[in-house]
Amino acid sequence: MGKVLVLYDSATGNTRKMAELVAKGARKVPGTEVRMKSVDEAGPEDILWCDGLAVGSPTNMGVLSWKMKRFWDETVGNLWGKVDGKIACAFSSSGGWGGGAELACLSLLTVLMNFGFLVFGVTDYVGNKFTLHYGAVVAGEPRADAEMAACERLGERLAQWVAVFVDGRKEFHPVLRRKENDDDD
Ligand SMILES: Cc1cc2nc3c(=O)[nH]c(=O)nc-3n(C[C@H](O)[C@H](O)[C@H](O)COP(=O)(O)O)c2cc1C
Repeated sequence: MGKVLVLYDSATGNTRKMAELVAKGARKVPGTEVRMKSVDEAGPEDILWCDGLAVGSPTNMGVLSWKMKRFWDETVGNLWGKVDGKIACAFSSSGGWGGGAELACLSLLTVLMNFGFLVFGVTDYVGNKFTLHYGAVVAGEPRADAEMAACERLGERLAQWVAVFVDGRKEFHPVLRRKENDDDD
């Protein structure tokens, strides 16, 4: 069954709190094995282990943190060409709204695409005017219901895509599920 890794960097704990919620969301899909690791403790074996990967970084100058960049440059650089086709997504905590958290997500997704990961966004609205098109973004730590829901939805969606595309569990396809529910109404 699906294996999901939530990999994060966090200097002051905000992205780590997001990571916990992303992991919680991934566990909502039955049969999914979820691991959470900081960039300081993760190694190449963790990236090889997972089918789905959620990567979180604090927004630093509008992009991913230097530690997260170094992880992909040096720690797992040798995996380039060996991890194509795994499924991945991004999340980021910034100091303020408009501080570049979505840019940071895009910078994470760019690195992941370079490694051949299949990356995705989420169209769902999880609160009033609150969505996660490029990954989950929060200013500071996740507190409001929508902020926490965005993190959980990201993890759940990752585990759903892993269930569908890695394990062939088509019944977890979120769009088809929604359509079936609509047809039942
Ligand atoms: C070097 C550095 C650069 C930062 N750059 C930005 C930035 O460009 N935009 C922003 O909104 N916040 C910026 N911040 C603030 C952090 O993104 C913010 O405090 C975040 O919540 C920290 O997450 P963490 O607790 O997981 O480390 C920066 C912080 C540091 C230390």
